[in-house]
This record gives sequence, C-alpha cells and structure tokens, in this order.
Amino acid sequence: MGGYGDVQMLNEDGTRMDGRRPDELRKIEIEAGVVPVADGSARVQWGSNLAIAAVYGPMEAHPRKISRQDRCVLDVRYNMAPFSVTDRIRPGFNRRSREIGKVTANALESVVQLELYPRSKIRVEIEILTAEAGTRCCGITAAAVALADAGIPMRDLLVSVASGKINDTVVLDLDKPEDNYGQADLPVGILPNSGELAFLQMDGDLSVEEYDLAMVYNMKATKEIHELQKAALAARYENRGEQ
Ligand code: CDP
Repeated sequence: MGGYGDVQMLNEDGTRMDGRRPDELRKIEIEAGVVPVADGSARVQWGSNLAIAAVYGPMEAHPRKISRQDRCVLDVRYNMAPFSVTDRIRPGFNRRSREIGKVTANALESVVQLELYPRSKIRVEIEILTAEAGTRCCGITAAAVALADAGIPMRDLLVSVASGKINDTVVLDLDKPEDNYGQADLPVGILPNSGELAFLQMDGDLSVEEYDLAMVYNMKATKEIHELQKAALAARYENRGEQ
C-alpha cells in the first residue's frame, strides 16, 4: 500500500487497468480434494494467486503444551513458495507469514466446532504457489474448503475477500499494481450464511462512507465466492460416490 493517490489507475470510463468494474472480482476457480494424502484439501486460483490448503487431523495435540483440555487447537501455517513472486522469497517463516498464519487461525476458530475435539489439534497448511496481492484471502478461502473436505464440523464456511481504495474510488479485490499504488486495503473474513465477521484488517485510511461501500462490495463478493466453495465441495462429493 504505497498511498500514491496520484498514479492513475482508472480508465476514463471508470473501469480499472485490467478492465474490471469497481465491484468486480478477479476470476476465481476452486477445487476440493487436490492433495491425495491429506484428510482434506483445496486449490484456489484467484487471478494470478494460487493457493493449496491441506488439512490433517483431528489428531492428538503435540507438543503437549499446546493442548487444551476443553477444545481442539488449530495449528495453522501460511507459507509463500520461494518462486511465488519475481524476487525469490527466502524459504522458512518470517514475521509476515507468522502474522498471516495467526490471523488465519483466529478466523478459522470462528467456524470450526473446536469443542468437539478436546486435547486434539487440526493441522492446516497453506502454501502460496504464486502471489499477486490478496494471498491471505486466497489462502483462508482455500483452508475453509479444505476443512469442510476433511469432514470437520463447522458452524459455517468462511470466505475471505478484500476491498480497497484507488484514486479516491472504492474497488473490490485489489490486484498487485492497485495494492502497490492504492490508498487503502480492507481484507475481511465473513461467515457467508450469517454474514458475521471473523476478521478485519485495514491498511490505509477510509472514511465511514468509503468503509460502508467497501463492506457492501465485500459482502456481495462473499456470496459469489461461497457459491464456488459449495460447488467445489459438491463436485468432490459426487466424485467420491463414483469411486
Ligand atoms: O498477499 P496479501 O495481500 O494478503 O498480503 P500483503 O502482505 O499485503 O502482500 C501483498 C503482495 O505483495 C503479495 O500478495 C505478494 O504478491 C507481494 N509480496 C512480495 O512480492 N514479496 C513478499 N515478501 C511479500 C509479499
């Protein structure tokens, strides 16, 4: 988020550099069951972002110190592959990946019925294979499908999406140049059936009116992405029936 409001990112007809309308998502494709050895998994291609999420468990919580008497813990890792961006990323975790892992775990805790598995853990691994802004949203959306694919009881699915501001205009789902030169970014996690918020982060400034419009865009996009999640899980269920 550079905050360069003077870099022109909107065409004269109000469309964006990649031709999208302000309230239009990048193309999203979701597939469930892509990692054969995992208990549940999903692939989300979101514009040029590509995330794979794999879920293992529930299993006994190790190391013992992370175990909780009354609930399961989510052991979440978010990682960007070294080749996921043009500047090679040093392998291993860094401050950013730990922060996104924590945000993701907190958001998923809003939907997973953790009380059903005391003293257990569920491992959620998110690998970003290509990155082009919005990878936390892509990864969280994939992780929710992977958890459902693993048959983990959940109160709702979870969708993550972001709106932001470029050239004083609120737009949905910032791509890389918009993220670099834009003025604000508002990624959220939303429970699609109840409309509840699971997390919200804000980079940059939005007025109350801009925030309200960004949330209207986020809610609308949540419904669209939820349909893709459900279709991916239904397709997976049908394929299992044939095996
Ligand atoms: O990916 P997301 O928007 O959730 O998080 P960010 O920290 O705002 O990163 C925005 C984008 O910057 C990423 O999606 C990557 O495309 C890029 N990035 C990068 O090129 N190198 C990094 N070490 C981290 C991020």
